[in-house]
Amino acid sequence: MQKDVSHIRSFVIRQTRMSEYQRRSFETLYQGYSLLCDDEKSTRKQILSAFPGCDRLVAEIGFGMGEATLELAEKFPETAFLGIEVHKPGIGKLLGELASRSITNVRVIREDAMVVFERMLAPAVLDGVHVFFPDPWPKKRHHKRRLVRHGFTAMVGRALRPGAYAYLTTDVRDYAEHMLEVIGTDDEFFENPSGGFCEPLSWRPRTAFERKGLARSHEIFEIFLKRR
Ligand SMILES: C[S@@+](CC[C@H](N)C(=O)[O-])C[C@H]1O[C@@H](n2cnc3c(N)ncnc32)[C@H](O)[C@@H]1O
Repeated sequence: MQKDVSHIRSFVIRQTRMSEYQRRSFETLYQGYSLLCDDEKSTRKQILSAFPGCDRLVAEIGFGMGEATLELAEKFPETAFLGIEVHKPGIGKLLGELASRSITNVRVIREDAMVVFERMLAPAVLDGVHVFFPDPWPKKRHHKRRLVRHGFTAMVGRALRPGAYAYLTTDVRDYAEHMLEVIGTDDEFFENPSGGFCEPLSWRPRTAFERKGLARSHEIFEIFLKRR
């Protein structure tokens, strides 16, 4: 029987110093760019109404410093991006960039993604979800903290519309294999068209965390799934 680890957080709030730019951006911009609250599950229609001109909705879990988010938002102006992150300096950085580049198709939620998916999103609201390089938690005793765990696929799967996608990447082989195993046991929600790992999709930007892995010659693993 699987041990219930659903209450264990996949992050620790680090007391990283914020730059003046990040702090100011967070304080002045968060209110205007944030979305969703947990007293009612938001429907697709409600969320998309905050993004005039957008007809697709994609969530990104753990955007870090937000480089990939920015690049995708500029590349796909008709897609609404919901960035979920708990790390304040990264949120401040992304908010500052959104404002200075006048990007209007991104909203940010400072919350545990588990809480967002369980309490804030109605079923079948998303066209896609990105999980780019989640914290690897390499030590065996910390594996229970990994974001992609039993229960994750059902949680994410419920929020995706039929035909939507989930795109996961990591540079840690045993985490990548664990992802495939978790997804394989939950095939009520997802099919894996490539049957295993796939080639990177041409539109996926390289992320900050990925660059660090590549500098250490890490292999990158990509998983692209379709919601049944
Ligand atoms: C290893 S970093 C990768 C950041 C970025 N995606 C990249 O590739 O550069 C993982 C990020 O996920 C965030 N994170 C971890 N668990 C989370 C959760 N449950 N909800 C929201 N963000 C989370 C962390 O704060 C961290 O910034």
